[in-house]
Amino acid sequence: MIKEGEWVLLWRNSRSNYLVKAGKNRFNTDCGYLDLEQLKGREFGREFFTHTKNKFYLLKPSLECVVMRGFKRRTQIIYPKDAAFIISKAGIFSGSRVLETGTGSGAMTAFLAAAVMPEGKVYSYERNPDFYANACNNLASAGLLDYVVIKNKEVKQGFDEEAVDFVMLDIPAPWELLGPVCRALKKGRKLASILPTVNQAERFVLDLEAKGFVNIEVFELWARRMLFRQGRSRPEQLMHSHTGYLIFAAKVFVS
Ligand SMILES: C[S@@+](CC[C@H](N)C(=O)[O-])C[C@H]1O[C@@H](n2cnc3c(N)ncnc32)[C@H](O)[C@@H]1O
Repeated sequence: MIKEGEWVLLWRNSRSNYLVKAGKNRFNTDCGYLDLEQLKGREFGREFFTHTKNKFYLLKPSLECVVMRGFKRRTQIIYPKDAAFIISKAGIFSGSRVLETGTGSGAMTAFLAAAVMPEGKVYSYERNPDFYANACNNLASAGLLDYVVIKNKEVKQGFDEEAVDFVMLDIPAPWELLGPVCRALKKGRKLASILPTVNQAERFVLDLEAKGFVNIEVFELWARRMLFRQGRSRPEQLMHSHTGYLIFAAKVFVS
């Protein structure tokens, strides 16, 4: 049953759909309004009609949908295609302890939290107080704040945590944090970073090699949404063609 404050995807078709929260206000769609109060207590998957008798379905939104459409963005975010791949290579599970900087808008934090919950924790650092407050709100709205410790703190002074299972760096100069990362990360475990330019990626790879990291891998991922219509199916014209280079490396005992 849909509860007060829960996200709901109102679905009519691919052009007419809305991410809303069950609550108190009236909500206007392109084909009539509805009362968000009346969503409470309904079942996901059921029909719901606007005042002009237009039919929507009540869908349970994915975390990808909540992050992309429900989160307020104050920074560039890590897109779901990259986040999913990072998590698949991170070696983290429910119960893992993860370090992250910077939190930004909390998009990657949300995907990490969903991977380590309910036993694990994400410790995420953000130096900008406005971005910190926004990320806290975003994570609370996704119901994930219990699995995250966000710190409004500059990381150059180092991390408070030790023996973490994975480190995620989304900052412009991750090589500046290799010292603190080496102290916090368990041996045999990975770090990941995302960098927008090939120059930054190359610099980071060289520094990782110099520090003795192994299993260094770099990827760029593309995800193309497809249009399927009988006899004229093809990829959509527009896409997020470049998001960033993903870099992975494992820490080992250095002899
Ligand atoms: C691109 S944003 C991160 C976006 C985030 N990964 C997401 O998916 O929403 C980079 C953030 O790192 C923060 N930052 C950069 N250097 C930092 C540092 N040394 N310590 C703490 N935060 C830092 C910036 O303030 C910015 O909000």
